[in-house]
Amino acid sequence: MRKPVIAGNWKMFKTSGEAASFVEKLRPLVAHSDHCEVVVAPPFTALRAAADAARGSNIRIAAQDMHWAKEGAHTGDISAAMLEDAGATLVILGHSERRHDHGETDEEVNHKLKAALAAGLGPVVCVGETLAEREAGETRSVLERQFRQGFAALTAADFSRIIIAYEPVWAIGTGRTATPEMAEESHRFIRELAGAGFGRTEAAAVRILYGGSVKPENIAGLMTEEDIDGALVGGASLQVESFAAIVNYKRATTR
Ligand code: 13P
Repeated sequence: MRKPVIAGNWKMFKTSGEAASFVEKLRPLVAHSDHCEVVVAPPFTALRAAADAARGSNIRIAAQDMHWAKEGAHTGDISAAMLEDAGATLVILGHSERRHDHGETDEEVNHKLKAALAAGLGPVVCVGETLAEREAGETRSVLERQFRQGFAALTAADFSRIIIAYEPVWAIGTGRTATPEMAEESHRFIRELAGAGFGRTEAAAVRILYGGSVKPENIAGLMTEEDIDGALVGGASLQVESFAAIVNYKRATTR
């Protein structure tokens, strides 16, 4: 049984005060949400405030990126040890906005992934095709390249500590969610890649989250698909009520 993960990626939103008050309000709303793991990913500057506010709760804190070096002359960058020091236990890697805004490559994602694993952080690695790639019929080849290069030279034990997020770029922030069937097709393909790369046990165990315009209204439908193990939520994770409603999707369904 794969335990679902519902994670909120706050992107470049919220000061530390706003982060703390969000987490304080969220705590009682998800205190009994044992059907899934609850994660929020504040910007670097709000990690400590969010982690302090989450202490003793079932809410885990993720960072949104990191550098692969332990330390060094990398102005503006943050290391894994710094994230842990600030209270993060997970880190999102390879988000399409990092790939787009900062030209991040699959090779860099791979460096970051290895460094996160070595530091004991739980990586949430994002993959997904752009609209042009989907329309050109390249979805599978893009996912395959991102998977092979992003997850290169890992052991099965390393892989078992990773969460994958499938985020089709055309569905991010557009209100255009992939249908559950479209998402399921890619999730199944990613699980096949995991099987070929790391073995059947690892493929059956890896959590694959869907991201892209997830809302309280569409989460239950997505979660009925066999290979969708949770969500990475952007916009709808910024309000406590909508994020809590997504976390608690199960109460609103008969599943
Ligand atoms: P939206 O939910 O705003 O589409 O963002 C998805 C996302 O990028 C999560 O990482």
